[in-house]
Amino acid sequence: MAILVTGGTGFIGSHTVVQLLNDGREVVIVDNLCNSKLCVLDRIKSITGKDVKFYKADLLDFEAIDKIFKENDIDSVIHFAGLKAVGESVQKPMLYYHNNITGTLNLTKAMADNGCKKIVFSSSATVYGNPKSVPIKEDFPLSTTNPYGETKLMIERILSDIVKSDPEWSVSILRYFNPIGAHESGLIGEDPKGIPNNLLPYIVKVASGKYDHLSVFGNDYNTHDGTGVRDYIHVVDLANAHLKALDRAAIVTGVEHFNIGTGNGYSVLDIVKAYEKATGLTVKYEIVARRPGDIDACYADPTKAYEVLGWKAQYDINKMCQDSANWQKKNPDGYGE
Ligand code: NAD
Ligand code: UFG
Repeated sequence: MAILVTGGTGFIGSHTVVQLLNDGREVVIVDNLCNSKLCVLDRIKSITGKDVKFYKADLLDFEAIDKIFKENDIDSVIHFAGLKAVGESVQKPMLYYHNNITGTLNLTKAMADNGCKKIVFSSSATVYGNPKSVPIKEDFPLSTTNPYGETKLMIERILSDIVKSDPEWSVSILRYFNPIGAHESGLIGEDPKGIPNNLLPYIVKVASGKYDHLSVFGNDYNTHDGTGVRDYIHVVDLANAHLKALDRAAIVTGVEHFNIGTGNGYSVLDIVKAYEKATGLTVKYEIVARRPGDIDACYADPTKAYEVLGWKAQYDINKMCQDSANWQKKNPDGYGE
């Protein structure tokens, strides 16, 4: 019995595959490599000592996905594959809707046709929009402000409707907060294309001398120091949540939603200080205007994940910063060409 991991060579997918292999589970990866590189498979082997079966295929190609199910005994799916850049989704909404929604429809049809009814889906805290209060609980109202977020919410609804139509399905929707860090080996990590949009990847490049300074987007938010507050979570902790969700899917049917965060909110300036403290490096910054669409504060109440899945984040902000810095030091150009 294998687990199909879509998007398994990506940032979160690769870390999850490592945890799955180390736990002795059988894995098949499908990825079209539109935002990841083949050499990730060698890195996964270096960490785990195991080869993993890989298909270079696009979720938009139904025949190719169906073939993967026919050729393997797939019992469950962890579905990471998707496009994830908020700004790009505003520029190219059709690309995002087609890739993320059609890709998921093809995947779930191939699953249904081949009798596989267990799926863990990568959703995002973005589905809470601008929350009325923090910490955020799973039953807070849902809304979105951009096409990327809209695809996450639509996919959540599609999966819920599938469960309504066939109660044998087991759907676990994991709403991630802000994943950062890297595997402590420094062999796998986040490798954003071009100039990073997200805070930690940008800080890492400033501290390593690639960029002169960080632009802090606004210091007039309603937070303890005026800069935006988020719930940063170590990617290995996040990866482990998927193993717990799979275990649960093996014994229950229906749809469940879980916040996957630490429950701690850190401001942009808190993160700058934490990175400096963890690494001994300097992060120059300048306060600039707010980034359109950003919210004051977003952090999880992760109690449900603990009570139902038995999952809790283990790593603190210091470890997240150290592992991000270690990945950068060992791979100044990411995975390279
Ligand atoms: P990533 O881009 O590193 O990984 C996604 C992988 O999916 C890539 O390897 C890409 O090549 C692949 N892919 C994309 N479209 C595909 C398609 N049509 N067919 C086959 N493969 C395809 O992103 P990540 O950070 O690892 O995120 C994984 C998932 O988690 C995504 O669904 C993302 O939206 C979600 N998520 C990420 C974050 C975050 O901050 N990183 C936060 C919340 C949710
Ligand atoms: N920030 C800066 N300067 C930068 C980058 C970010 O000040 O160069 C600030 C932002 O204004 C925000 C915080 O750092 O206050 C975090 O920003 P990120 O871009 O790292 O993360 P977001 O919370 O904005 O977005 C992330 C994911 C989205 C997802 C969202 C909600 O990137 O895909 O969380 O889950 F939709």
